[in-house]
Amino acid sequence: MLVTAVQLHGVRNLAPLQLEPGPRFNVFAGDNGQGKTNLLEAVYVLAALRSFRTSALAEVIGHGHERAVLKARVVRSELERVYQVVIEPQRKTAIVDDKPVRPIARYFGGMNVVLFAPEDLAVVRGAPAERRRFLDRTVFGRRSSYLTTAQAFDKVLRSRNAVLRGIAEGDRGGRDLLDVYDQQLAPLAVAVVTARQELLAELGPRVAAVYAAITGGALTAAVAYETKLALDPAAVVAQLAADRGKDLGRRSTTTGPHRDELLFTLDGHPAASFASQGQTRALVLAWKIAELELLAATHGDAPLLLLDDVSSELDDTRNEFLFAYLSQRPGQCFITTTDPRHVRIAADRIDRRVAGGAVT
Ligand SMILES: Nc1ncnc2c1ncn2[C@@H]1O[C@H](COP(=O)(O)OP(=O)(O)O)[C@@H](O)[C@H]1O
Ligand SMILES: [Mg+2]
Repeated sequence: MLVTAVQLHGVRNLAPLQLEPGPRFNVFAGDNGQGKTNLLEAVYVLAALRSFRTSALAEVIGHGHERAVLKARVVRSELERVYQVVIEPQRKTAIVDDKPVRPIARYFGGMNVVLFAPEDLAVVRGAPAERRRFLDRTVFGRRSSYLTTAQAFDKVLRSRNAVLRGIAEGDRGGRDLLDVYDQQLAPLAVAVVTARQELLAELGPRVAAVYAAITGGALTAAVAYETKLALDPAAVVAQLAADRGKDLGRRSTTTGPHRDELLFTLDGHPAASFASQGQTRALVLAWKIAELELLAATHGDAPLLLLDDVSSELDDTRNEFLFAYLSQRPGQCFITTTDPRHVRIAADRIDRRVAGGAVT
């Protein structure tokens, strides 16, 4: 997959932009706050119809603009397509080759991207919710239909929690409603957990192998999904019923994928408490490389890598590994950095500067 042109208008602080990226390494250098991450975010939105920086997509609209218009020309299997996303305060429109796509879920799949951002490097020791988001981004990249499932689950979960709060405040009719939501929630919860587990089954062995390659194989890395959920909707309904007293007390749903854990281990020890900072970062690096390889194997061509200022956070050895890996793998990369010298790539490279929202 090759992005041969990017056009942006009304996106965050970016000046209207028309860019023809090279087929391999595209390096965007600039000081902090100039718009580098905004540029990667825009490309990510074109692929995923959502942002990795905010859940409110309208934030992407540049101040003083009524809408953001994002476009990418993509060549894949000798076929050229133009993907376009128009973001307005209350809606987004997805367009392929000038035709609006509905339902919006049919838009997905044409652009495959993997994002690697500095925040990811803290994920092993971070909060469980950050790990779930990290995991979900990978699941979504692998299987675009997952987004619909995850969003449907979130919606029913929010409704169920609202009813729990209502009952706690004396709403007697709420209990019947709770039964309805339990029936709706159960299959969605099972679908979310199943998709996550399937992803880990595919990705886990690759993470272990890449981690061994990065570190020389002293310790064995593994990733596991921990859940208390039964994997059968009827059993989940029973679980929800059994937990209802507890849920009412806490005014929220205590069992489900929104409470599950993504666990990183080294030789069986939880990495969050056991691993050094260097090891936790190597784990995330291994995950991201594994993700690139999985998507390449699944789709038959290399996904676009969006590498956001990661070099400044990695030590020299890991940086060298990353760039040596990227040099021998095919595929296109957008790399941002505060210092182009951090990007240890010599060949097939185009350097641009980002300053005050202008890319030159
Ligand atoms: N909706 C918006 N409209 C205009 N400017 C924005 C918007 N959202 C963020 N910005 C500006 O974008 C800049 C940050 O850009 P960013 O891409 O994060 O910088 P960096 O080059 O450090 O990655 C900040 O100056 C911020 O004020
Ligand atoms: Mg940035």
